[in-house]
Amino acid sequence: MSNHDAEIIDGNLDSSILRSIECLKNDQLIGMPTETVYGLAALASSTPGVKKIFEVKQRPTSHPLILHLAGFEELDKWAIEIPKYAKDLGKHFWPGPLTIILQRSNLVCDEITGGRNTVAIRVPNHSVALRLLSKLNDGLVAPSANRFGKVSPTSAHHVVADLGSDIALVLDGGHCAVGIESTILDCTRAQIQILRAGAITKNEIEEIAKLNVDESDGEARASGMLEKHYAPNCKVVVAENSAQAVTRQIELENAGVRAAVLDFCDNINLYAKQLYAELRLADANDIAVVVAVLPAGNGLAEAIRDRLTKAAASDQS
Ligand code: TXA
Ligand code: MG
Repeated sequence: MSNHDAEIIDGNLDSSILRSIECLKNDQLIGMPTETVYGLAALASSTPGVKKIFEVKQRPTSHPLILHLAGFEELDKWAIEIPKYAKDLGKHFWPGPLTIILQRSNLVCDEITGGRNTVAIRVPNHSVALRLLSKLNDGLVAPSANRFGKVSPTSAHHVVADLGSDIALVLDGGHCAVGIESTILDCTRAQIQILRAGAITKNEIEEIAKLNVDESDGEARASGMLEKHYAPNCKVVVAENSAQAVTRQIELENAGVRAAVLDFCDNINLYAKQLYAELRLADANDIAVVVAVLPAGNGLAEAIRDRLTKAAASDQS
């Protein structure tokens, strides 16, 4: 920990990539842009760095980390017994917002997986992250760069606001294009199962994998997935449509409660992109209650409903 906030540096400069590599090799943590959300990154081979992630995030070690790789070609080093359909998915969707859980190789240390024999892997679709990864000859483990249970960061400034005193620097890669965490797919069981909804949809996965996705809400989904999550300081309540949201907001305001409506249902990509920034803005503006409209549909809409429902399940007010 330091008294100074981490510096935000331009991720497009070679000098910034070199500085990042130096920090990572010294077991330090950096903020890294991806297309989904910013990650809190350490070298996969740095056990002290990996341990630091759990300390800084205040995250239980039973919540394993995602390993980010430079490209599909790296997969064989880090995972074993990879089913053909999983390779097909990686080849098709990477770089992109799909995380695949596989049997881990012995390159993956226990600290990354919380002792499990499986590892979550993805190749992020962001030029800054890819440039950094391509120069490492290693992987980067990175959870979202926020404190445990809080709202994920979608800009370099969000990372500094949350973790500024605990990290070396943040590579600025602009506002995240997707804005919501990756789809997580368990490929270690007889049937593939989505553990977390994201931009890549069940239909897209089924089409490439040529397999049905298991819809059950089983044990695998529960593992590491908490009900209370993605929570801002303000209270989040959900509404089924815009009219209901406005009515609720007026009721709250009439009762003297500062309330705001969150509703980008007419543009689902924008809703995903802005969701976390809007929740942070509500906190900054001392909004007590955000009334968020649940978007209809699958894909990103489903992922947004998932995050909003979890934010609303928080007992914070
Ligand atoms: O888009 C993303 O996935 C972002 C960016 C930074 O890549 N990362 C991210 O990481 O959302 P995090 O740590 O906030 O969420 C990873 C989730 C956790 O819920 C964790 O429990 C689950 O992935 N996970 C990781 N490894 C796993 C494994 N071997 N088995 C089951 N779940 C796993
Ligand atoms: Mg997270």
